[in-house]
Amino acid sequence: MTRAFLPFALPEIGEEEIAEVVDTLRSGWITTGPKSKRFEADFTAFLGDAALQAIAVNSATAGLHLALEALGIGPGDEVITTTHTFTATAEVVRYLGADVVLVDIDPATLNIDPRAVEAAITPRTKAVLPVHYAGLAADMPALLGIARRHGLKVVEDAAHALPTTCGGALVGTLASDACVFSFYANKTITTGEGGMLVTRDAALAERARTMRLHGMNRDAFDRFTATVPAWAYAVVAPGFKYNLTDIAAALGLQQLKRLAAFQQRREAIAAAYDAAFADLPLVLPPRPAPGDRHAWHLYVIRLADGAPLARDRFIERMFEAGIGCSVHYIPLHLHPYWRDRYKLVPAQFPHSQQAYERMLTLPLYTRMSDADVARVCDTVRALLRG
Ligand SMILES: Cc1ncc(COP(=O)(O)O)c(C=O)c1O
Repeated sequence: MTRAFLPFALPEIGEEEIAEVVDTLRSGWITTGPKSKRFEADFTAFLGDAALQAIAVNSATAGLHLALEALGIGPGDEVITTTHTFTATAEVVRYLGADVVLVDIDPATLNIDPRAVEAAITPRTKAVLPVHYAGLAADMPALLGIARRHGLKVVEDAAHALPTTCGGALVGTLASDACVFSFYANKTITTGEGGMLVTRDAALAERARTMRLHGMNRDAFDRFTATVPAWAYAVVAPGFKYNLTDIAAALGLQQLKRLAAFQQRREAIAAAYDAAFADLPLVLPPRPAPGDRHAWHLYVIRLADGAPLARDRFIERMFEAGIGCSVHYIPLHLHPYWRDRYKLVPAQFPHSQQAYERMLTLPLYTRMSDADVARVCDTVRALLRG
């Protein structure tokens, strides 16, 4: 009997989420409204820092765009980020007419290399955009230090990083200008599509709120016009349509409550993989610093020199065994748009290139049963041990 295909990722949606969505559907208020506001409040409460503002958006891409726009990034500016990321991290810089400067990763952590960041700074550099790759915090003390010394803004791409910690503090509460989480279907909590921009910068928050909804500055308008009727608003800028619906926020409200349990399950699966693969010709995922937490959004392995088969073949064999795998990421320097626009060659990014050629991502999600985890372990072991 052939076993069911084990997909690479699956969301965990329970009766609580379904009931909350149904409640929204019955309420008559399905777009941005009370549940989006509550989701923002619950998110800041989770982060535990009263100085933070949370702005719910319909994707992390939207949140990153809004953060950079609010910081005034525009034509002539440069933003430094990692080549080893999803294109969303970098594309938002181009939305604003600014330029992306891609740098290499630290091969130990697969996160952006702070030394490469410092070496890439020019008089045009305005911001650094680190990604907490796979759910492991980037070297934020070093990056924030560089930013401070050079007068640069820092926007964190925390799409993978809920509930990652760095130096004991949750990502989202660090000393950057803004931090953006993703609630895409495969993330550690999901709203189908969605994201959250968090910041302590009141001006950034106000601008992002305005630009999230067509540049309609109703909140500011209210402040200046005490007797404003309900229909009145002022358009103060050509904004975007980036608001999160209450249908999506309903999912988020319940998913956030389950985050701690989700995290426990992810950690247990990562630990089971670590134990099962310890003696194989693999580079296992880097561990967080002592006392810190990895969100384990992704479990990325790299085939070591002694591995009996190459990455592409390995993924094919996993697929033949009924197990979905992926690759995070095809680095940006290999994609035609980024390669051609900035005349990039792999030799500029030796660590990302080498990691890419050997890496694959195994299934890791809360709905995996212990038998699913054992099946992945046994299949990987059989392929690498023969
Ligand atoms: C590193 C990174 N940044 C940004 C994004 C964009 O997130 P979203 O799909 O919520 O726009 C993703 C999505 O997978 C991602 O992996």
